[in-house]
Amino acid sequence: VRDSYSRSLRRQPPTFRTHDGRTLHVRLIRPTDAPLLLDLFDRLSPESRRRRFHAAVEHMPRALLEEEAERLSDVDNRTNGGALLALERVHEDGPRTERAVAVARLMRPALDPHSPEVESAIVVRDDYHGQGVAKELLRRSVLLARQMQAQVIVAEIEADNYPALRAYRGLSLPTTSSTSHGETTLRIAVPQE
Ligand SMILES: CC(C)(COP(=O)(O)OP(=O)(O)OC[C@H]1O[C@@H](n2cnc3c(N)ncnc32)[C@H](O)[C@@H]1OP(=O)(O)O)[C@@H](O)C(=O)NCCC(=O)NCCS
Repeated sequence: VRDSYSRSLRRQPPTFRTHDGRTLHVRLIRPTDAPLLLDLFDRLSPESRRRRFHAAVEHMPRALLEEEAERLSDVDNRTNGGALLALERVHEDGPRTERAVAVARLMRPALDPHSPEVESAIVVRDDYHGQGVAKELLRRSVLLARQMQAQVIVAEIEADNYPALRAYRGLSLPTTSSTSHGETTLRIAVPQE
């Protein structure tokens, strides 16, 4: 466990392999990534969309979704929030492009830029489920949390969302868990250097 968190985010390899051998690239989000977020959103199953966001997003007008994608990309990876993207390189007709297949996000409460807590959320595109992508991005999220000077990662997960609960528990960090009204809140201690 120690080894998983011993190096800073900057010193992580730029790629990793899924269980079935596909190579994914990982990097911090940038303000220009809104189109990548929208493309990922469009390719999610209704179930994944609902688990990550809430039912309301299904009926959101396109313009609002675009605005939301802009807002979610516009983070500094230090204070207000941060995110890690897993990207695949695709070679369809035309030049090589990249597509986001997963996003792991950490957000600080808007009114509390010094909060020791950051809220975590993750989504992986359905055709990559069960490939260890969440595990790898969440491990790196812990390093991002440290870069953001957070001490606790909070994750709110529907109590029957076993893949998500397993992915967070798989971090093997000191974690408390409480459930009410069908929502489980995990509070995960960020290992400090
Ligand atoms: C939850 C989610 C992020 C997991 O992503 P993933 O890349 O498939 O997860 P991983 O492959 O890293 O697997 C993580 C753990 O979940 C388990 N798991 C994966 N898919 C599973 C499934 N369908 N059923 C049960 N367990 C599953 C894996 O076995 C692994 O546990 P282990 O290491 O103890 O074996 C993905 O299912 C998802 O995007 N869901 C929709 C969004 C969501 O629920 N987000 C969480 C709330 S913000």
